[in-house]
Amino acid sequence: MRFFIDTANIDQILEAKDLGILDGVTTNPSLMAKEGISGEANVKAHYAKICKLVEGDVSAEVISTNFEGIVAEGVELSKIAPNIVVKVPMIKDGVKAIRYFADHDIKTNCTLIFSAGQAILAAKAGATYLSPFIGRLDDTSWDGMQLITDIAEIYAIQGYETEILAASIRNSLHIVEAAKAGADIVTCGLSAILGLLKHPLTDIGLAQFLADHAKANS
Ligand code: E4P
Repeated sequence: MRFFIDTANIDQILEAKDLGILDGVTTNPSLMAKEGISGEANVKAHYAKICKLVEGDVSAEVISTNFEGIVAEGVELSKIAPNIVVKVPMIKDGVKAIRYFADHDIKTNCTLIFSAGQAILAAKAGATYLSPFIGRLDDTSWDGMQLITDIAEIYAIQGYETEILAASIRNSLHIVEAAKAGADIVTCGLSAILGLLKHPLTDIGLAQFLADHAKANS
């Protein structure tokens, strides 16, 4: 399973990159706004900066909701760098646009996925990545992780090539469960990634090893 970081924050992207585990970046309009990035030129410049920092794919989301607008915006975004992926919402015109992008060799990430039916439609349209939102489903008492399991099963049976990018990941356990459920990629904040490091027995064990070493060498 690959690791993408779900942020537009340059420091966090650099910290994940420095850890040596970063395979890509996802953003959305809310994450860009959180960093205070606004205006077309600034947004494009910020994506260009991120694309230079990471070798992997960088998802940049469109804000248009009609076919012509999504296509025009996506084509412009795709010109920023070869590792840009156009993020398109799961709406009727979005599905049409995903087919257009697939036919024109532009990579896409179909976002706001909350059902297996939507996942089938996105794969049929030729999406490169599919983003099921685990945390937001959990928030409404639906089982987010079960959706990943279902989509992984369907994609395997049907031979769909769209990759499952588990999104809206809220904690480190979500990462472990997404790996078990068959996600190809997980995207999350830095804290969920760093949480994977933690176990009290590791800290206790290391303290003991270092203490024994110090005693033997004193
Ligand atoms: C990433 O592709 C999604 O936009 C993001 O993971 C959504 O996460 P949230 O539900 O925590 O906002």
